[in-house]
Amino acid sequence: MKTLIIYDSMYRNTKQIAKSIGDAITGDVKVLRIGEVNPSELESIDLLIVGSPTHGFRPTKLIQTFIDNIPGHTLRGIDVAAFDTRIPASEVRTGLRLLMRLGGYAAKRIADALKKKGGTW
Ligand SMILES: Cc1cc2nc3c(=O)[nH]c(=O)nc-3n(C[C@H](O)[C@H](O)[C@H](O)COP(=O)(O)O)c2cc1C
Repeated sequence: MKTLIIYDSMYRNTKQIAKSIGDAITGDVKVLRIGEVNPSELESIDLLIVGSPTHGFRPTKLIQTFIDNIPGHTLRGIDVAAFDTRIPASEVRTGLRLLMRLGGYAAKRIADALKKKGGTW
């Protein structure tokens, strides 16, 4: 099985998780930072995993732009998964915690975007 893991990371936490997921998956696994990905690499994979820090309730601009630019239905027949990193809810005050819960996090938005491109969840 061929797996591509794409991540963005500002402070390296998401990078570490991406690499750990890569280490845990068997088969042909590539872990690439968002800027290193050649879109043609999407054509020959079985599983695509995309991870991003949550920035303002959503994935980073680079991740969003990358997914937006995937031609429609390129991911048809490819399994997709998403993960994010975020501030632990226990570390913020109640008001902000509520706002964060309402605003959401990056992973769901990534998953929805990958599904729109034909990916199988
Ligand atoms: C500009 C900016 C915006 C952020 N917005 C959110 C947010 O909306 N919700 C949240 O839970 N964490 C937010 N965070 C915290 C990051 O998601 C968290 O620091 C992330 O896990 C760091 O990942 P990294 O080490 O891979 O960069 C934000 C951080 C930055 C720098």
